[in-house]
Amino acid sequence: MKIALILIAGLPLFTQAATVTFNHDIAPIIYKNCSECHHPGEAAPFPLLSYADTVKKAKTIAKATHARLMPPWKAEPASYPYRDERRLSVFQINLIQEWVKAGMPEGTGPAPEPPKFASGWRLGEPDLVVEMPAAYHVPADGPDIYRNIAVPLGLTEDKWITAIDMRPSARSVVHHVLYFADGKGMAHERHEGKEPGFSGMRAGGAKFPLGGWALGGQPHFYPEGLALSCPKGSDLVVQYHFHPTGKAEAEKSLIGIYFAKKEPARKLTRIQMPPHYSLFSGLDIAPGQKDFIIRDSYTLPVAIEGVGVSAHAHYIGKQLKMTATLPGGDVKTLLLINDWDFSWQDRYFFKDFVKLPKGTRLDTEIHWDNSADNPRNPSSPPIRVTWGEESKDEMGSVSLMAVAQKESEVRILRQDVDQRQREMAREKMATDPVLARKVMKLLAE
Ligand code: HEC
Repeated sequence: MKIALILIAGLPLFTQAATVTFNHDIAPIIYKNCSECHHPGEAAPFPLLSYADTVKKAKTIAKATHARLMPPWKAEPASYPYRDERRLSVFQINLIQEWVKAGMPEGTGPAPEPPKFASGWRLGEPDLVVEMPAAYHVPADGPDIYRNIAVPLGLTEDKWITAIDMRPSARSVVHHVLYFADGKGMAHERHEGKEPGFSGMRAGGAKFPLGGWALGGQPHFYPEGLALSCPKGSDLVVQYHFHPTGKAEAEKSLIGIYFAKKEPARKLTRIQMPPHYSLFSGLDIAPGQKDFIIRDSYTLPVAIEGVGVSAHAHYIGKQLKMTATLPGGDVKTLLLINDWDFSWQDRYFFKDFVKLPKGTRLDTEIHWDNSADNPRNPSSPPIRVTWGEESKDEMGSVSLMAVAQKESEVRILRQDVDQRQREMAREKMATDPVLARKVMKLLAE
């Protein structure tokens, strides 16, 4: 019984007999799960490529892994496994604890080789590299800055983008970016003020979202030949969120773009719940309110395959969840984030596409904590929070990236998703003149 309990708790069993050492136990964990970001030129603030590197940071490593802050991976294990999952097992977390308690012995025997990283692009040489037209000067301090900077791609034919990677020149100030294609090819002509680009979080109305990159996030290829449309003549609009660090910086990124060899046979559809990041879902959180919840439900009009999930909220988002209730009544979890952190916005692709039959009901539930005991609350004391684009405002949604099981039905899916969004917007604006004015103002931007 005792042994069974110990096994369940995931504790290493024979630690009394054999001491945990770096060479034998810890190096394999660090080199496989940490070095990828913790090496020179990458986002993490210090390297983890040797015994000496690891010892120097051992105490914070023990804390950060125990709290599951590191490696960054906010999704709890769900009903379907994710691709490239970055999560330590309880066993590995406990090994690190024991190693630190034991005084961080190096161990005898050969030291394992740290992994080698080819310098440059993480997904290999891109098909197209564009440089932003001019450096943006981020001051030493002040509020966060949202800025859209556009560059023409010079495409003479329609293309499909399967991955984007970026190399910032001042990585420490780039908190996250979102990419869009402006099919009209006009965004690069828009300038406001002395710095390149223009402000706002709508990217000047650019129509084709191309994903994004967040602090510590890794670039991904879309699975199985899937790709996003980028029409000929498009500008690439990069929407930066800059975060001043105490030192003035000039940021000018290189963007590497990877094209699919051919038009994808299947089209991706994004099912965002609630639509428009909850703009039409009554997001209005009283100061001090500990648990404000918005729910949304959507029943699939056709059979789909889930490709991946992503979530978005600002600082006081707390828990985000999406489930699928199958026509037989089984409830499956597609995404569960229990401790939302604005700093770690990632996408979670399923290891295998998730088949969901027609009639499956998707449900999302988003919780916000606007109390003073939320350490991430940007307002002290808390203030009333409504929908908006600044970091003190809030938004929230969970999205499922999906393909139709029968490609001939993708139009039905897309039309249904669009129509639902339009109806929600229309109904809400008809009864809420304040919101209607806000939306008009947004559209006029
Ligand atoms: C996807 C990239 C990535 C991976 C993988 C990763 N880290 Fe980090 N790590 C970062 C970044 C970026 C920061 C800086 C975070 C910040 O400034 O908020 C960081 C910060 C840290 C810190 C400092 C935290 C603090 O409280 O100051 C520790 C300790 C750490 N990482 C340990 C690890 C360990 C151990 C692993 C592997 C088990 C790991 N990291 C894997 C990107 C990564």
